[in-house]
Amino acid sequence: MPIVIENGILDRLGAEILRICSDVVVVIDETVESIWGKKIFTPELTSMTRAKLSILADERAKTMQVVNDLLTRCIETGAMRTTAIIAVGGGLTGNVAGMVAGLLYRGVQFVQVPTTLLAMSDSVISAKQAVNSPNGKNLFGIFHRPDHVIIDPCFLSTLPFEEFSGGMVECCKNALAFRAELLDETRKFIHRLGDPPYWEDIICLGIEGKRQLLAFDEREAGVGIVLEYGHTIGHALELEDIDLCHGHAVAFGMRAAARIARWRGWLSDQDVFIHDELIKSAGVPDCLPNGVDPKRVLRRIQLDNKRGRIRLNTGQVGMVLLQAIGQPAMTDGNPLVPVDIQEIVEALQWLINH
Ligand SMILES: NC(=O)c1ccc[n+]([C@@H]2O[C@H](COP(=O)([O-])OP(=O)(O)OC[C@H]3O[C@@H](n4cnc5c(N)ncnc54)[C@H](O)[C@@H]3O)[C@@H](O)[C@H]2O)c1
Repeated sequence: MPIVIENGILDRLGAEILRICSDVVVVIDETVESIWGKKIFTPELTSMTRAKLSILADERAKTMQVVNDLLTRCIETGAMRTTAIIAVGGGLTGNVAGMVAGLLYRGVQFVQVPTTLLAMSDSVISAKQAVNSPNGKNLFGIFHRPDHVIIDPCFLSTLPFEEFSGGMVECCKNALAFRAELLDETRKFIHRLGDPPYWEDIICLGIEGKRQLLAFDEREAGVGIVLEYGHTIGHALELEDIDLCHGHAVAFGMRAAARIARWRGWLSDQDVFIHDELIKSAGVPDCLPNGVDPKRVLRRIQLDNKRGRIRLNTGQVGMVLLQAIGQPAMTDGNPLVPVDIQEIVEALQWLINH
């Protein structure tokens, strides 16, 4: 999948997209549209845009209903097999638009124009597209790889700090879970987050960390499951009504997973400290916001979308846990291990009381 990263490519977005397709439906994050709309919709892009569909970047609106409405609008505006879907926004917009692109006529071309650090450095290179169910995160989805990714780091100039920090968490995850050799570089770049000349390097750090793994396992069904480090608990926290962005939810999920691994005698105190120190330096708050309902979180954890990947006994959940920094514990070749509910309850209590 071609990925172009270039400062200022936004000025040539229409021409860049024209290399792929001359008839597009743009699915755009409504906040991004309000800030960047005039710059994005040049006469060239406007002339090839069949429809502009704005969406709200909120996990509660990442639903099949929204996908269904967008698909209906595509049909109503005359979209054809040759129409491409262009996603302009963060990871959420990318996932929703990716669902639309994968389902419309069983799949049309898909172009990602990411506008958050997380989307630029992580989610755009994945083929996984999904939306939430009332029961949990990303429970309904498909695989639909983007045909083209166009990254202009200039979008980051309007990104709130929390979203920068959330994006950096996925880079931290790569270093902690399977690329320990990237720890020093990750630490170095964390201190450069607010420094535009470093944005391209930070984006490449994330992409390279993940791309190597996806080359072996595009569907993230084997070794690629390690990318889910921190996500089992993180996803369940993300749907709580507590204003927690994806990256921060994953960060709390990793801190909880590190505790479970410590209690098992797998990680050392020093390894847990490395987690806490790296995550804190990325700008993640030390404590979970108030208002987490552990019973509700636990129910969601039990419905996690990795269920069935490994054999579990009643009362167990499959999670990515580490045996050392950069070294996930394995079950039958998969980086996933059975974890007792009681271990998770204790880790949640630690997160809430900490
Ligand atoms: N497919 C994958 O492999 C994959 C990987 C990681 C995350 N995800 C998904 O991505 C989502 C998280 O993505 P995200 O962190 O990009 O969040 P997001 O898309 O929800 O955007 C976060 C916030 O930033 C705002 N925003 C976006 N671009 C902006 C800009 N340039 N300036 C100002 N504000 C801007 C949005 O309006 C929103 O309020 C989650 O739903 C997660 O499940 C998917």
